[in-house]
Amino acid sequence: MWYKKSISKLISEAEQSGEGTLKRTLSSSGLVALGIGAIVGAGLFSLTGIAAADHAGPAVVLSFVIAAIGCAFAGLCYAEFASMIPVAGSAYTYSYATMGEFMAWIIGWDLVLEYALASATVAVSWAQYVNELLTQIGYPLPPHLLAGPWEGGVINLPAIVIVCLLSLLLMRGTQESSLVNNILVILKVSVVLLFIVLGWGFIDPANHTPFIPVNEGEQLLKEGKIGVFDFFNEGYFGHYGISGVLRAAGVVFFAFIGFDAVSTAAQEAVNPKKGMPIGIIGSLIICTILYVLFSHVMTGLAPYTAFSGDAKPVATAFERTGYHFLNTAMIVTIIAGYTSVILVMLLGQSRVFYSMSKDGLLPKMFSTLSKRQTPWKTNLVFMVFVSLFAGFVPVSDLGHMVSIGTLFAFSLVCIGVLVLRKTDPHANRPFRTPWVPLIPVLGILVCVLMMASLPIESWERLGIWMAIGVVIYFLYGHKHSLLRKEREAEKKQSQND
Ligand code: ALA
Repeated sequence: MWYKKSISKLISEAEQSGEGTLKRTLSSSGLVALGIGAIVGAGLFSLTGIAAADHAGPAVVLSFVIAAIGCAFAGLCYAEFASMIPVAGSAYTYSYATMGEFMAWIIGWDLVLEYALASATVAVSWAQYVNELLTQIGYPLPPHLLAGPWEGGVINLPAIVIVCLLSLLLMRGTQESSLVNNILVILKVSVVLLFIVLGWGFIDPANHTPFIPVNEGEQLLKEGKIGVFDFFNEGYFGHYGISGVLRAAGVVFFAFIGFDAVSTAAQEAVNPKKGMPIGIIGSLIICTILYVLFSHVMTGLAPYTAFSGDAKPVATAFERTGYHFLNTAMIVTIIAGYTSVILVMLLGQSRVFYSMSKDGLLPKMFSTLSKRQTPWKTNLVFMVFVSLFAGFVPVSDLGHMVSIGTLFAFSLVCIGVLVLRKTDPHANRPFRTPWVPLIPVLGILVCVLMMASLPIESWERLGIWMAIGVVIYFLYGHKHSLLRKEREAEKKQSQND
C-alpha cells in the first residue's frame, strides 16, 4: 500500500493518445474560464451578505483578502504539481507519486466528497434563486418541493433537475461542456462587473462606518474584565471585531473553492505546463479582485445589518440603486453562474474517479469512455449520488462537509510539495512554488486553522466517509491495484533471475 507511481511513468501514460484516452482540447484561457466557472457562485452571491451581517460588517472585504491569501498558498502548491504531473486526477495523482498508494486513495476519496457535495450544495442554492425568479413571474414552487425532509419539505426537486441535466451534458463531451461553461462564465462575470459599476455610484459612505463593527467581548477582554475562556465560551468570538473578520474569512472560504478543479482537467489541457499555473493562479487572482470590489459595493449599498439571514443579498443590495429594474435580469444571470459551478464540480469529480479506476483501485467501468470520450458511467453513477444529496440533505451540513474535505485536500497537496522537493529535488518543474518550505508550511497552517473552526459534526462526518473509503480500499482497491501487481511481478522476476 505504500508503492509510489513514478512521475515519468505518469507523464508517459498521460501522453498516450487514441482510443480510451481523454482529448487535449482546453487552452490556457479555457482553463482560466474553467477556474472562474468553478469559483464564482454561491459563496459570493449568497454568503457575502451573511458573512457581513453576522461576522465582519463592511470589513468582509478584508475577510475575502484573508481567505484569498490562504488559498493562494495552496494554489501555488497545486500549480507546481499540476505543471509537473499534468494528468487527470489532481491531488489524487500527486499523492500517488509522493506519498504512495494508500495516501493517494485517501485523498482521491476525499476529493470525491468535495466535488460531489460542492455540486450538491450549489444546486440547492441554485434552486433558491430559481424559485425567486419563478416567484417574480407569479409561479412560485410549493415549499415541499424546495427542501428535503430534514428542513420541513419532501424533496428539493429543482436541485435534482439541474444535477441531472448537467450530468447529461458532461456525458456528451468535454468540448461541449467547455463551450457551455465559457458562455456561462461570460454571463457570470458580466453580472459581477455590472453590479460593481452600476452600484458604485450609489455607495453611501455611512454604510461603511464603522468599517469593523465593535465586538463587545474584545473590548472586555482588552480591559481585563473577562478571560480568554469566557471570550470563546460566551459566544463573543466571531461576532464582529477582529475575530469576526477571521470567522467571516472561514465562511467566505467557500467562495474560493474550485480553483483546484482546474488541475483535474490537466490531461485535457493543450499545453498543461504553461496552462496549469495560468489557469490556477490566474483564476484565483481574477476572482479575488472581483470579490473585493463586489463586497465593497454590496456593503456600501445597504447597512450590513440588512443582510441578516438573507440568501439573496444581491437582490437586496441592488434594490437600493437606481437600476432595480435590472434585478430580474441579475437573478437570471446568477442562476446561469451557479450552473457553471455545478458543471465544473461534476467534471472534476468524474475525472478523479476516472484516474482511480484507471489505476485499478476502482472497478474498470469508471474509466471506460464512451464514443464521445467521456467517462459516462461515472457521470451516471454520480448523477444519482449527487441528486440524492441535493434533493434531501440540509444545505448548511453540505457546505461544511465541502469546506472540511477541501481543506484536507489542500493540506495534503502542500505536504506533497514538501515531500517531493526532498525525495526528487531535480525533477523537471515547469512551475516552482516560491519560498519553499515557507509557502507550503503556511498553507498547511492556514488550512488546519480553518478546519479547526468548523463544527465538530463535520469532523465526524469526514471521519465516517474516510472510514468507508478505507474499507473499500482494503476490500477492492488494494487487491486490484495495477501498480501493486506490476511491482510484485517485477519482484518475482528479479527473484527468479
Ligand atoms: N466557490 C464555489 C461557490 O462559491 C463553490 O459556489
